[in-house]
Amino acid sequence: MGKWIFSKKNFTYHKKQQSKYVEAKLFILRYLPNSMPKILLTGGAGFIGSHLLDFLAESKDNQIAVIDNFYKGSIKNVNHHLKNRNVSIIKGDIRNFSTLKKIGNVDEIYHLAAQSNVMGSLKDPDYSFSSNIIGTYNVLKYAESCNAKKVLFSSSREVYGNPMHLPVDENHPLNPLNLYGSTKAAGEMLCKSFAQSKNMDIRIVRITNTYGTRDIGRVIPIFFAKAAKNQDFEIFGGNQILDFIWVRDVVEGIKIVSGSGKYKKETVNLGSGKGILINDLAKLIIKLTNSKSRIIRRFSRSFEVSSYIASSNKINLRATPISKGLMLLHRELQKSG
Ligand SMILES: NC(=O)c1ccc[n+]([C@@H]2O[C@H](COP(=O)([O-])OP(=O)(O)OC[C@H]3O[C@@H](n4cnc5c(N)ncnc54)[C@H](O)[C@@H]3O)[C@@H](O)[C@H]2O)c1
Repeated sequence: MGKWIFSKKNFTYHKKQQSKYVEAKLFILRYLPNSMPKILLTGGAGFIGSHLLDFLAESKDNQIAVIDNFYKGSIKNVNHHLKNRNVSIIKGDIRNFSTLKKIGNVDEIYHLAAQSNVMGSLKDPDYSFSSNIIGTYNVLKYAESCNAKKVLFSSSREVYGNPMHLPVDENHPLNPLNLYGSTKAAGEMLCKSFAQSKNMDIRIVRITNTYGTRDIGRVIPIFFAKAAKNQDFEIFGGNQILDFIWVRDVVEGIKIVSGSGKYKKETVNLGSGKGILINDLAKLIIKLTNSKSRIIRRFSRSFEVSSYIASSNKINLRATPISKGLMLLHRELQKSG
């Protein structure tokens, strides 16, 4: 059976965290040859990435390396994998090509690491640009250098901007409204050019607004946190119609897209195919949590998309209805305190 080889003398623990993890540059030297699929998951300590890791680690046949710089991700999201010999958690930055090279060769890459939202791109545009564009370029260069059989890139519905029609299919023009969307569109273009010119199997998923446990800083976790304290919800606009998808459905979508030859070099929307008004979403959460929070309407913001519903014709994803997904999330949030 194959295994990772570690450089023991350089094996250091990160002191700031209770749980132990190690610095990438000191960590993996190389793989022993083996027949198990070797997978690199970038951004695996983040929200969607950690749920994807849970799925990938279910198979004892997978050897998985996670790289994450913990910019937004947390060791808490991956704590339960630290003792799994098939999973290696590497603290490292995809903006640094030499860090990626140290991981050694892998067969498959799930590239999720990114500055992952619109507000973050306004707060830190340079970081968003470098992580999402230079980082993606490095991941693709690395994939090419190790002859990876498959790469999956997590793009966003933000690449469409304000759509010309609903639902939005994958042929809709790309008109990003904000820097986050444009870095994702640029990442897609890099993927396409690598796929074309180097004949690589690179698949793109355009994910819609995702919700679930381990998420922070987005509208649904913010609403739940405010509801718990009976604080008012601030809504910008309120008439936006957006498509929200349960995180485990996104993982299912990634599993389908990466698992079938049908999606070779394809771009696929991952959405529920259903829209909900933000105002109604707020009301649903208030009702579900029995909260006294009120909804305060503010002017809409120009950098935010006003409507999106994914056309999910390319994939048969039976998405969890939002009312059920919110109930599941509420239950899980209550359990975790
Ligand atoms: N959550 C959503 O609603 C949503 C919607 C559409 C697309 N996406 C995309 O899906 C992917 C995962 O999103 P998420 O919600 O899990 O976000 P997240 O921020 O929770 O996860 C991204 C992870 O990447 C890590 N990271 C950031 N910069 C890095 C760098 N330079 N090097 C190494 N690691 C780095 C972060 O620490 C984090 O753990 C992202 O690419 C995001 O753009 C997410």
